[in-house]
Parts: sequence; C-alpha cells; structure tokens
Amino acid sequence: MSFLKLSKAIQGMAFFTLALSTPLTWAAPDAVAGKAKAQVCVACHGEQGVSAIPGMPHLAAQPALSVFYQLLQFREQRRKGGGMEVTVANLSDADMRDIAAHYATLPAPPAQTGGDAAKIAKGQVIAQQQFCSSCHGAQLQGQKHVPRLSGQSSEYFTAQLRNLRSGARADMDGTMGSAARSLTDEEIEAMAVYSASLP
Ligand code: HEC
Ligand code: HEC
Repeated sequence: MSFLKLSKAIQGMAFFTLALSTPLTWAAPDAVAGKAKAQVCVACHGEQGVSAIPGMPHLAAQPALSVFYQLLQFREQRRKGGGMEVTVANLSDADMRDIAAHYATLPAPPAQTGGDAAKIAKGQVIAQQQFCSSCHGAQLQGQKHVPRLSGQSSEYFTAQLRNLRSGARADMDGTMGSAARSLTDEEIEAMAVYSASLP
C-alpha cells in the first residue's frame, strides 16, 4: 500500500471513529452519574439543589436544557459570576448534560411564603402584561432552554434581571434582554417576590 493510500485509509478510520463516538457523547444523559459529578456544587447550591445561602440560585427542577446551556455559557466565559466560570472550566459536555439531568429530577424549591401580598399581586399583573409566561411557562416553571423562575431566590432573580436589562449578562439570543429593557427596578422587585411565591 502506498503512503498516500495508507494515509487516506487512516483518515477514513479516524472519520469512522469520530462518526461512531459522536453519537456516544450525545447518549442519554445519566442523572445518577450527574449526582456524583455535582458533589462539588453542593456547598453553594445545596444537596437537593435548594441553596441555603441568600442570593444563591436554586437549581432544583430547572429544565435540563437550561442548566446545560448556562453551564456552557460559563465554560465559554460568555457568562461570568460567582466564580462559576472557574468551577466548570474542566467539565465536558457530557458531564454538563449529566449534571443538568440530575438537577432536573430534584423536587422544585418550596414556594416562599410570607412575601408582601401587595408586591406579589403587583408582580403577577406585570408578569401577565409583559407575557413572561409565554417563554417561562404558565407557572413560570421554565421549559426547554428557558429557566424556571418559580420558587427562585428573589435576590437572585432581581440581580439577574438587572444584569440582563443592562447587558452585563448577555443572553443567548437577545430575547430576554429585550424583554427586560423597559422594566423599572420596582417592577423587577415585584416580579421577583411574585415568582418566589410560586410553587
Ligand atoms: C462557590 C460557590 C459555587 C459553587 C461551588 C458552584 N456554584 Fe453555581 N453559581 C454560584 C453563583 C454565585 C451563581 C450566580 C452567578 C451569577 O451571579 O451570575 C451560580 C450560578 C449557577 C448557575 C446558573 C443558574 C441560573 O439559573 O442561571 C448554574 C446552572 C450553576 N451555578 C451550576 C453549578 C454547578 C453544576 C456547580 C458544580 C459543578 C456549581 N454551580 C458550583 C456559586 C457556586
Ligand atoms: C422571548 C422569551 C422570553 C420572555 C418573553 C421572557 N423571558 Fe426571561 N428568559 C428567557 C431566556 C431564554 C432566558 C435565559 C437567558 C440566557 O441566559 O441566555 C431568560 C432568563 C430570565 C431570568 C434569569 C433566570 C436565571 O435563572 O438565570 C429572569 C429572572 C427572567 N428571565 C425573567 C423574566 C421576566 C420577569 C419576564 C417578563 C418580564 C421574562 N423573563 C420574559 C426568555 C424569555
């Protein structure tokens, strides 16, 4: 076999191996493996994905695609904050899918009771007027790549929505940035208290 033929054959093999291994990395995410891989996350995000630290995001019951997508954003340094970009620097796509599958299986964070009733009512009205549920779901429970907001920490919600409004946090396709642009601080706060109150 000539050198050219040999190298073509090797190239062909490499292509074949790639073609074989690509579907493998997209194999069904493994939530049990994800739980083990998420042990380093427990200190901040809680054993059950419900954080005890004020202002820290709850991850429990987040749609898997949303967590996966945010982890990718941190790894690619398109989103920064809380040292997350360092924490996830060495995770593979498969690790992220497993971890995301794990959080998606956990019971939703408990609705926060005792919030200011007037603010909750105001937040509900604004959320309806602004069609937030058209993307975040009827109960703001999230769907596909769109994050769950119900039961989320209201401090976290407020900080992120302000960041999305100012552009300090770039969103994946600009839809959330434009949804946030016209909101006032008072409106954001009311919606944060409202969504935290949802189960
Ligand atoms: C030292 C504390 C800490 C550790 C450890 C940590 N995180 Fe985070 N995480 C944060 C903070 C703080 C934020 C909010 C970042 C911001 O302000 O944008 C965050 C944000 C996130 C978000 C975005 C949530 C959302 O709704 O937008 C995801 C997803 C996430 N972390 C997953 C993980 C995973 C998975 C691990 C483990 C591999 C992990 N984190 C480890 C502190 C931590
Ligand atoms: C067109 C679809 C769409 C609409 C409408 C929309 N959102 Fe979003 N929202 C998204 C997407 C997508 C993200 C994730 C952004 C990213 O990181 O790229 C997001 C992220 C968020 C976050 C950050 C959550 C987290 O866990 O990090 C908050 C808070 C939020 N939206 C609140 C709202 C509120 C309040 C409204 C109504 C005023 C609203 N959104 C309307 C699609 C939408």
